[in-house]
Amino acid sequence: MKGIVLAGGSGTRLYPVTRGISKQLLPVYDKPMVYYPLSVLMLAGIREILLVSTPLDLPLFKRLLGDGSDFGLSLSYAEQARPEGLPQALSIGREFLAGSPVCLILGDNIFYGQDLTALLRKNRDLAGGATLFAYHVTTPERYGVVELNPAGEVLSLEEKPDKPRSHLAVTGLYFFGPDAPDEADRLKPGRRGELEILDLARRYWERGELRLERFGRGTAWFDTGTHLGLLDAANFIHAVQSRQGLQIGCLEEIAYRQGWIDQPRLEYLAGKMENSTYGKYLLSLTES
Ligand code: TTP
Repeated sequence: MKGIVLAGGSGTRLYPVTRGISKQLLPVYDKPMVYYPLSVLMLAGIREILLVSTPLDLPLFKRLLGDGSDFGLSLSYAEQARPEGLPQALSIGREFLAGSPVCLILGDNIFYGQDLTALLRKNRDLAGGATLFAYHVTTPERYGVVELNPAGEVLSLEEKPDKPRSHLAVTGLYFFGPDAPDEADRLKPGRRGELEILDLARRYWERGELRLERFGRGTAWFDTGTHLGLLDAANFIHAVQSRQGLQIGCLEEIAYRQGWIDQPRLEYLAGKMENSTYGKYLLSLTES
């Protein structure tokens, strides 16, 4: 299983802050936004990751994350020339994927919760088909919406409907089998003029290969695409971290705990940031 983080887009709802920069480079409280979706892939045990962003911002992501070795990862980079839809990431990633199943995650989605790792690992082991993850929200009309029957089977999939048939939003986390680039290539732009991820999901649904997982109330999902969403996410991260004294989305910690980087490496990385609370936290991990 390989991973793709989609970290481009137009970010028009965050103007003017995103007029010159991809939002995934912005901070959410004490770390760059892209750390959070990267941490989700890492918790799923995925180490080979492709980051897709705009030609302008790709060099910034490279400066931020390098080849991934600080986090025990193998990171590659690819350009999306124009933001023409989420499924395009799979076509762009064709060579990188080389026939592997993929976990695609949006660079502005933050997940946190007890059942997250187990749910991720369960789906990581599935070789084919597709998995969507749904979450109960107050404003489903802003998202892709899935309607389920009492047995939990999908009845409808609609992108940003005026009259949503449920409160279940489709989150920015998807698993696809090895055929995903081929299926993405076959899509036609939808009414918004871009390729739609739900159209891709529909192809799997039609052949009975779409699974749907629901995140429960114990999971937090933030989409940081608006100013308020960004602030809410930052406040949440701050509240949990300051209460627990544990970090959310700390890539070096996850790598260390999974045995992907050793203690001398962690000490070295912490030393480079020892003036920040993040660096001090990393140092404290080497002492416990
Ligand atoms: P969207 O929510 O569609 O948002 P956007 O960034 O294009 O901005 P806005 O709606 O405010 O104009 O995208 C979700 C995520 O996917 C976000 O992290 C941006 C990213 N993205 C791409 O990288 N490429 C794309 O082609 C699209 C559509 C989105």
